[in-house]
Amino acid sequence: MDAQTQVSGTTVGAGPKVTQVAATVFVLPPLPYAENALEPVISTKTLRLHYGKHNKGYVDTLNQLVTGTPFADMSLKQLVLSTAGKAEYAPIFNNAAQAWNHAFYWRSLSPGGGGVPPLALKTRIDSTFGDLETLKEELSAAATTLFGSGWAWLVLDGAKLRVVKTGNAENPLTAYTKPLLTIDVWEHAYYVDFENKRADYVKGVIDKLINWEFAAENLSSA
Ligand code: FE2
Repeated sequence: MDAQTQVSGTTVGAGPKVTQVAATVFVLPPLPYAENALEPVISTKTLRLHYGKHNKGYVDTLNQLVTGTPFADMSLKQLVLSTAGKAEYAPIFNNAAQAWNHAFYWRSLSPGGGGVPPLALKTRIDSTFGDLETLKEELSAAATTLFGSGWAWLVLDGAKLRVVKTGNAENPLTAYTKPLLTIDVWEHAYYVDFENKRADYVKGVIDKLINWEFAAENLSSA
């Protein structure tokens, strides 16, 4: 089933079978760049699989889980917050959070990324971490030491910048912090290109792809 429409058959009374076409609740957002735009750090093959199979799979599964339920009326963020920590809603949370996380991850990367953050963000980084290199080291450490699958994040926690890591589908929204950028460290994000060398993927992302402008926009809207 694609991410645009869902079709379900419904029998109404004794009448004929009615095919009901329901609007899809959640749609896979388009990538903000071409599939080959993140090479050589992230190959076209990885991006095609990651976005077209894994990311799309989360969105499709989420739609299957929530269509026809009260969850269908929520925003993706509301859905994440409403289902977090509730065992009975774990499948919905996992797919909703992964849909949110991936949409955020794609925007956290940029062809020609890396470099120096915009001044307002750089000033906050310097006051919190001392300098940009220290933040990059903390982000790299979070991303490489996370055990198993998950995410490394730069967040705004109250008035303070912090680096955090979350396992599996978890994200910082549930801790009421504001994500500024993220790095996906699930194996599907790097294994085709780097095999078991997660640290090389993380270094490539931080040095060449990280979208400081996106983080600065998120900071300015906080
Ligand atoms: Fe992923």
